[in-house]
Amino acid sequence: MRPRRILIGTLAAVLGAFAIAVFAQPPQARPQGGSSAGTVAVPTGLREAGRALFAEGCSSCHGFEGEGVPGQAPSLRGAGEAAADFYLRTGRMPLDQVGEEPLRATPRYSDSQIRALDAYVASLGPGPAIPVVEPGRGSVSDGMQMFNESCAGCHGTGGKGGVAIGAYAPPLGEATPTEVGEAIRVGPYVMPSFSEAQLDQRDLDSIARYVQLTQNPDDAGGFGIGHIGPVPEGLVAWFAAIAALLLVARLIGQRNEGDEPGGEEGGKA
Ligand code: HEC
Ligand code: HEC
Repeated sequence: MRPRRILIGTLAAVLGAFAIAVFAQPPQARPQGGSSAGTVAVPTGLREAGRALFAEGCSSCHGFEGEGVPGQAPSLRGAGEAAADFYLRTGRMPLDQVGEEPLRATPRYSDSQIRALDAYVASLGPGPAIPVVEPGRGSVSDGMQMFNESCAGCHGTGGKGGVAIGAYAPPLGEATPTEVGEAIRVGPYVMPSFSEAQLDQRDLDSIARYVQLTQNPDDAGGFGIGHIGPVPEGLVAWFAAIAALLLVARLIGQRNEGDEPGGEEGGKA
């Protein structure tokens, strides 16, 4: 009777540890095809539509000509269409409150409004264009190597998120290939930007391909426990091993107890 109850208790503890490890991390599977806005030749109508949207939704912080307002928001001259596109498609702008880190949210503007705002911000001064990213052309192993060298320090192994100095480095589970390329070129918030010389077109494709892989890891056997990286996964293995050892120890103890009454007391001496 008692060993069985202990067994059940231990099993529950082990399962609990696994459940915490797996469910503490929300599932990050949301594959999205590249939503590349492309670099279309900008019709003036589009730019003017963007100017109107900007006056209404952005100028209170960035100024009427995107010149920036000290203590509020930076100038957008030279931010480029890539920055506008990244901040708008990931819902980071318009920011709710000055001083807080812009975080991913549901986009506030439609696709055509975003293209209009992109065109307007691009017209304020030359800046990075929206990169065309095609993960299919990249190499997973190159991408993984570059990711580990340049990105994992902040975003964590497998892009599960982490901390950067003074900021939260988000998990990359929702980032589209275009957004990955834009983030690399723009360097949002405290993230550094990477120039063409540091990471070229092929590198962008490879990194985006690796990020896609981390979004849909194929579990070739074994239990993924949420792909939270080698350290916590090792820790879970330790918990499981400790629980198993405890179980064995308890079972051995039980048997001695049954053999001779008071055996537990005798063992203490
Ligand atoms: C409440 C104030 C506020 C509003 C409203 C706002 N922004 Fe911002 N914006 C900021 C702040 C603060 C930053 C700097 C944060 C950062 O660097 O990530 C910023 C950064 C940006 C950047 C990045 C600049 C760069 O150099 O990379 C872009 C692009 C941008 N905003 C576009 C917009 C657009 C377009 C709108 C309107 C739809 C908008 N913002 C509305 C406060 C605001
Ligand atoms: C110094 C730390 C740091 C490094 C290194 C870094 N990032 Fe970031 N990254 C950040 C931070 C912080 C943010 C959030 C920016 C914000 O809040 O506007 C971010 C945002 C992003 C986003 C947007 C995610 C989303 O869901 O909206 C992507 C994509 C991204 N980074 C990719 C990369 C890639 C790819 C690399 C390597 C080439 C990289 N980052 C290197 C800190 C970093």
